[in-house]
Amino acid sequence: MDKKLEEVKAILKKYGQEHLLNHYDKLDEKHQKMLINQIEKINFELVNSLYQNTSKEPKKQQDEITPIDYLDKYKLNDKYKYYENIGKKAIKEGKLAAVTMAGGQGTRLGHNGPKGTFDIGLDSHKSLFELLADSLKEEGKKYGVIIPWFIMTSRENNKATVEFFEKHKFFGYQKDKSIFFFIQGELPMIDTEGKILIGEDGLIKEAADGHGGIYESLVKNGMTEKMRQMGVEWVFIGGVDNCLVKMVDPVLMGIAIDKGVTVACKSVVKANAHEKVGVFCKRNGKPNVIEYSEITEEMAEATDENGELLYGESHILCNLFSVDAIERMGANPLPYHVAYKKATYMDKDGNIVVPDSPNAYKFEAFLFDAFGSVDDMAVLRVKREEEFAPVKNADSAGVDCPRTARKLYKAFYHLD
Ligand code: UTP
Repeated sequence: MDKKLEEVKAILKKYGQEHLLNHYDKLDEKHQKMLINQIEKINFELVNSLYQNTSKEPKKQQDEITPIDYLDKYKLNDKYKYYENIGKKAIKEGKLAAVTMAGGQGTRLGHNGPKGTFDIGLDSHKSLFELLADSLKEEGKKYGVIIPWFIMTSRENNKATVEFFEKHKFFGYQKDKSIFFFIQGELPMIDTEGKILIGEDGLIKEAADGHGGIYESLVKNGMTEKMRQMGVEWVFIGGVDNCLVKMVDPVLMGIAIDKGVTVACKSVVKANAHEKVGVFCKRNGKPNVIEYSEITEEMAEATDENGELLYGESHILCNLFSVDAIERMGANPLPYHVAYKKATYMDKDGNIVVPDSPNAYKFEAFLFDAFGSVDDMAVLRVKREEEFAPVKNADSAGVDCPRTARKLYKAFYHLD
C-alpha cells in the first residue's frame, strides 16, 4: 500500500492535485483503498484538457448544416406493412433488446430518489419504471418473446434502483436472465481553479458522464457481449422519463433492416419553429442533432415545398442501434460538454460546504454526438401524442412535467 501511495502522490504532484490526499489519514482503511483506486483510474490528462476548455470561447460554428431526410410513419402507405413485417419477423426471432438510461440525476424534477421510481400521479400510482415494464411486457407478448431489458444506472442511484426493482419483484422480469443492471461511467467534478473536488465522504467527487456514456458502458460492462450471446442484433435505447416511450416498434426496425442502416431514430415534429429542442440534421454530410441554440432564426423557420420545417424533426431520445454500431461507438470517445453546477464538497479543513450557487464543472457526453460516426441513418417521424410524454420538470414549470405527462398518458390509454 505504501508503495502505491507513493506512486499516487507522484501522479497528483504532476497534475497539481495533491489536495486529494489532504484527508487521507482520517479515512478508514476501506475508504483509503477506495480513494487510491479512484485516483488510479482518473485520466488526469483528460481532466486537464476539460478544464482548459472551460475558459475557451466556444468554437465558432464552421460546420455545414443541411436538412436530413426523414420518413413519416403515417405517410408510408403500402410500405408501412412491408417494413412492419420485416421488423415483426426480427422481433419474433428474439433479435431486439431494450435499454433504459436511468443514470441521470433528475435535478429539474427534484424527486427524492431515482427518477424511474417517480409516481406521475395515475390512479394506479405506478412508477415510471413500472409503466415502462408494462409496455415492454405487453409488446413482448404480441411477438411471443420476452424482450431483454437493460437498465443503466449511476453509482449514485444504482443501489436505490436495484432495491426498488427487488421490492417489486422486477415487475415479472428475471434478474440476470431477462433484466440486467449496469452502472455508467463517471468523471470527476472540478472547481473553477481546475482542482478536483472531494465529496462529503472524503472520496473524489465524481458525477455520471452523461447519456453519451451509454455506448462505452454497454461495452465495458459486458452488456453487448451478453446481447450477442442472447442472439440480440438490435437495441432500442431510450430515456427513463418518457412514459409513452414505444421501445418495440417493428416499423422502425423494419426500416433499419431494409435500408441497411445501423442507426434508426424517432422524431416528433417541433411544436413550433422556435421550440427549444435539438433537431436532426446533417453536419458536414453526416447525421447529427443540432441544438436550438446553434440554429439561426432563418434556419429554424425555413420550410420545404410542402410547408414542412426543414429543421423540424426533434430528437426525443428514442433510438435504435445495431449491436455492432454500439460497439463501434463505444470504442471512440465522444466530446464532453460542460455544465456549471452546485456541488457539495469537503474543503481543505474538512468542512462540508453546501453551496447556494454553482461552484463546480460537470462534464457530460451526449448520446447524439455519436451519430456523426455513421454515414447514414433513418429518421422516422412519429406522433407526439402517441410516443412522447416526458417528465423533466416539477409541475410548477408547467411543461414536460408530471401533470402534462399524466394527461398525455391517460389520453393515449383512454383512462379518463
Ligand atoms: P436528462 O438530460 O433529461 O437528465 O436525461 P436528467 O438527469 O434526467 O435530468 P436533469 O437534467 O438533471 O434535470 C435524459 C435521459 O438520460 C438519462 C436520464 O436518466 C434520462 O433518462 N441520463 C442522463 C443518464 O442515464 N445518465 C446521465 O449521465 C444523464
